[in-house]
Amino acid sequence: MTAMLSVRDLRKSYGARAVLAEVGFDVAEGEIAALIGANGAGKSTLFQILGGALAADGGSVLLAGRAILGLSPERVARLGVGRTFQTSAPYRALGVRESLMLIAAADEPAWRRMLVPLGRRPADAADAALDAVGLLALAEAPAAALSYGDAKRLELAMALMRAPRLLLMDEPTAGMAPGERARFMDLVRERAAATRMTVLFTEHDMATVFGFAERVLVLDRGRLIADGAPDAVRENPEVRRAYLGDGPPTKAL
Ligand SMILES: Nc1ncnc2c1ncn2[C@@H]1O[C@H](COP(=O)(O)OP(=O)(O)OP(=O)(O)O)[C@@H](O)[C@H]1O
Ligand SMILES: [Mg+2]
Repeated sequence: MTAMLSVRDLRKSYGARAVLAEVGFDVAEGEIAALIGANGAGKSTLFQILGGALAADGGSVLLAGRAILGLSPERVARLGVGRTFQTSAPYRALGVRESLMLIAAADEPAWRRMLVPLGRRPADAADAALDAVGLLALAEAPAAALSYGDAKRLELAMALMRAPRLLLMDEPTAGMAPGERARFMDLVRERAAATRMTVLFTEHDMATVFGFAERVLVLDRGRLIADGAPDAVRENPEVRRAYLGDGPPTKAL
């Protein structure tokens, strides 16, 4: 079966410093995978490359078998890659519903715009997305007034509006309280299951990683040192040394 995401021999250096070295892995359709690693391991750099925002020095990236490395962020998004960012910045000047309507209006195909007046379609699409992330009650609120967790939900709704086949989330729950983290990730899992969406996320909170990922990839200074089932990765001696601390494998993570 063709993987939803297939990364091969991906390389990126800043000057003499290799930030990503021969990184290769697959993510299957519908899978929820976590990419973990210490600060500076290269996680965000990898996501920026996958999303088309940063050029790689070499390698290949296939989305459902189609080469996407080197395409613009807009093109990559249109082919089905959605993103949420480590530092989220929804359109703070707009209302919650308005910021989603902007995406719906921009994505309206020109032929439909010509045949059918715009009417309520963007508002309906926006409300459906807000309902899916539990934010419908705040549709009229200014985006700037949202709590941190609700802003993350809005960012997720903005990504879901485009019905991505692959969603890349860079530290989606950073800064959230533990209960909120689990609720947010439950929501992601539910949306992924409902739409067969594939998810790759980075995360420093190990309870979230091992509570939600079906697969865990570990990056250590730009190299992938482990890739497998959560339990196998948790017990992997090299991973424990490099990232999880070198206590006994039974240590609560
Ligand atoms: N524009 C740049 N120029 C030079 N070095 C950079 C640049 N961007 C990132 N780096 C370096 O690349 C390395 C990887 O950074 P990256 O942001 O990908 O790490 P990360 O795994 O996302 O870390 P964190 O967990 O802190 O978010 C870091 O050492 C960083 O300093
Ligand atoms: Mg990062």
